[in-house]
Amino acid sequence: MIRIVYVNGEYVREEEAKVSIFDRGFLFADGVYEVTSVLGGKLIDFEGHFVRLTRSLSELQMVNPITSEDLLKVHRELVQKNSVVEGLVYLQVTRGVADRDFAFPDDISPTVVMFTQEKSMSESPLAQRGMKVISIDDQRWGRCDIKTVQLLYPCMGKMMAVASGADDAWMVHDGKVTEGTSNNAYIVKDDTIITRELSNDILHGITRAAVLRFANEAQMTVEERNFSIEEAKNADEAFITSASTFVMPVVNIDGVDVGTGKPGKIAARLREIYLEETLKTAI
Ligand code: PDD
Repeated sequence: MIRIVYVNGEYVREEEAKVSIFDRGFLFADGVYEVTSVLGGKLIDFEGHFVRLTRSLSELQMVNPITSEDLLKVHRELVQKNSVVEGLVYLQVTRGVADRDFAFPDDISPTVVMFTQEKSMSESPLAQRGMKVISIDDQRWGRCDIKTVQLLYPCMGKMMAVASGADDAWMVHDGKVTEGTSNNAYIVKDDTIITRELSNDILHGITRAAVLRFANEAQMTVEERNFSIEEAKNADEAFITSASTFVMPVVNIDGVDVGTGKPGKIAARLREIYLEETLKTAI
């Protein structure tokens, strides 16, 4: 089946989709993105992703090119046209096309690109097995709260993990874990869920917000604070969250088993609750 994608107001076959070589997204990574998951053909946490997109754009003094209603329409249209039951919708907004200049140009219109990716989401072998992570130095910039497309260091981190036989990398800044290459990081000790507090150092995960809300509703204890790799290795459980993995257990850090070395009870329960609850509000 040929994928239909969205480029600046038009639905086209993927091989016909074109963006200028002068697009600032291409030249400067001057753009932001969102990834929204699809379950049962419906969008998960659409509103949360729109709110974060609006914030990312405004932090970079970029014009918001699309209303929430129109964006929802395009998401739904793409899911429908591509018959996506489980997978993702990727959205990217760049500042637009202009002759190369470091200064932001005036009066250009943003480029908006969206496409779907089919992916098995609810049934995951990784959720059964658990992930191995390695720790790496966090060498990203100081505004990790803005969801920009400048993802080269996270790609390098992922490749460092793959090269050492692991699934992902947890980044460490000033001795404390910030987050995974494309997910938020958590440990569990004595039934307390511990995750770094929100700041410019991490992306404010939409899945994180939902999972912490569900954890609170289920009377679980949550502590938002920094933790070190040493503390993580000595935790009872570890896990990550993101729109593309939901809640995914971590069973090994830098070659050391976390807890029993098997996916933990709390991570498994949170994954279950997340899938159940989030489907209720999917649109
Ligand atoms: N990544 N931290 C980072 C650095 C991320 O890139 C992501 C998401 C998250 C989790 O955010 P959310 O729960 O809103 O997905 C945290 C997406 C999935 C990606 O880049 O593909």
